[in-house]
Amino acid sequence: MGLSKSYGATPVLHDISLDVQRAETLCLIGPSGSGKSTLLKCLNLLETPNSGEIWLGETCLTAPHADVDAARSRIGMVFQHFNLFPHMSVERNVTLALTSVKGMGREQARALARRHLDEVGLAAFVDQRPSRLSGGQQQRVAIARALAMEPEVMLFDEATSALDPELVKDVLAVMRDLASGGMTMAVVTHEMGFAREAADRVAFMCDGRIAEIDTPDRIFERADHPRLRQFLSQVL
Ligand SMILES: Nc1ncnc2c1ncn2[C@@H]1O[C@H](COP(=O)(O)OP(=O)(O)OP(=O)(O)O)[C@@H](O)[C@H]1O
Ligand SMILES: [Mg+2]
Repeated sequence: MGLSKSYGATPVLHDISLDVQRAETLCLIGPSGSGKSTLLKCLNLLETPNSGEIWLGETCLTAPHADVDAARSRIGMVFQHFNLFPHMSVERNVTLALTSVKGMGREQARALARRHLDEVGLAAFVDQRPSRLSGGQQQRVAIARALAMEPEVMLFDEATSALDPELVKDVLAVMRDLASGGMTMAVVTHEMGFAREAADRVAFMCDGRIAEIDTPDRIFERADHPRLRQFLSQVL
């Protein structure tokens, strides 16, 4: 609510108010530099907003004595670059935070990791090193790693834009399943097809503001904001 963020003297987010409902998928679209990544980083407290509040359920994450680590553990984040540990197996990449951050026993963590790796279609790859996997498979490991932490919300920042086109669809399929399975998601994406089909609402960001927020139908079929029309004419 009322979120603002500057880097030095440069304002990047202007008084943004946004809510994502439980089980909702919100897609964020907009031109490069419009502040989409900065907004997600603020939501995850990777960046500290200059003003405004962030609420997750009943918890105000920006309160002075908020437990930032506890808040972060409730939010899963998947970036463009998946940052898996190359020297560890796929399974260990997923169990690492479970055992070290959550203090879970090794066997319980393995069972949970296998369940989520199965969910993203990678049950057969648990013992492989990430380098033996395609980019799309590695990204799905990163998604399983985030899901294994059992977050209440998942944030995706261009999770598919570093991938070869033929690998994109498997990752999007996993994201689509998550969305229809009731996960609460905020997704920055350049995949307009995904936004159109999987989003409950689409927010168009422009110059650090949410210029338009509406159902995919109205955003894509009846856009009346001139910057949105211009943006869509370039990307569709
Ligand atoms: N760490 C930083 N320090 C200074 N300026 C930054 C920093 N990160 C982002 N910015 C600036 O903030 C603005 C918004 O950047 P942001 O990365 O949020 O845009 P974006 O909408 O995610 O763009 P893209 O589609 O290219 O990923 C840009 O003008 C960018 O140059
Ligand atoms: Mg970005």
